[in-house]
Amino acid sequence: MGEVILLASGKGGVGKTTFTANLGATLALRGARVVLMDLNMGLRNLDIYLGLENEVLFDVEDVISGVCNVRKALIRDHRFPELHLLSGAQYKEVAGITPAHIKVLFNKLKENFDIILVDGPVGVGDNLKMSASGVDRAIVVVTPDYSALRNGDMVDRKLQDMGIDSRCYVVNMVKPELFGRNVVPDLGEMADIFRTSMAGIVQYDENVNIANNQGYPVVCKRDTYIARNFDMIGKRLFG
Ligand SMILES: Nc1ncnc2c1ncn2[C@@H]1O[C@H](COP(=O)(O)OP(=O)(O)O)[C@@H](O)[C@H]1O
Ligand SMILES: [Mg+2]
Repeated sequence: MGEVILLASGKGGVGKTTFTANLGATLALRGARVVLMDLNMGLRNLDIYLGLENEVLFDVEDVISGVCNVRKALIRDHRFPELHLLSGAQYKEVAGITPAHIKVLFNKLKENFDIILVDGPVGVGDNLKMSASGVDRAIVVVTPDYSALRNGDMVDRKLQDMGIDSRCYVVNMVKPELFGRNVVPDLGEMADIFRTSMAGIVQYDENVNIANNQGYPVVCKRDTYIARNFDMIGKRLFG
């Protein structure tokens, strides 16, 4: 039986989609059967970051409305063993999707895959409720900015209210040279803000941005500190 892990954030642009793609690729490299599911309905990006945008025929909404079965909507990423994308809907009405629909879909995926990483919505609204229903764990993605930390903490509290006890946060876009100079929040301040523990950091690097635009997970390049950041997070989260 697999596990569903939601990636959430209080602010857009902190790196949820980047994190989903690269953690997924890292875990698939370690032999896990992984699905990356995009629940940013109408605002999907995961397909672009994986370079699979021309292969999306069916999406989450098609599966839920019965247009196709889940197998048909899964796109296999040929660069990584057992990495799959289930894309979000882009150009159509998705108002009919409920938390119960999403939960049923999660349970179906859990039968055949080890890890389902959900690229979730920004903020604490109804979309979070929909995406979080039935997840086993949640990871709040933040950057070393007071704004992202405060909003991230709000999301964490909301997830706790929804009964998700297994939660942690990760810090993306870290510039280590700024720590200890009192110019950005340091790791100690972050630990004071959050009631959960930190699962790791990902450094800021323009190659992440380039890789996203070129359509490949940056961890494809193995001998880099970004790949090591993700390896460490993978180990901390999954042993
Ligand atoms: N560690 C990083 N270093 C440099 N750029 C990054 C990093 N993580 C994300 N980015 C860039 O930041 C922007 C927002 O990332 P994205 O994953 O789309 O955020 P979100 O899904 O939270 O809105 C993108 O341009 C992405 O390429
Ligand atoms: Mg995103």
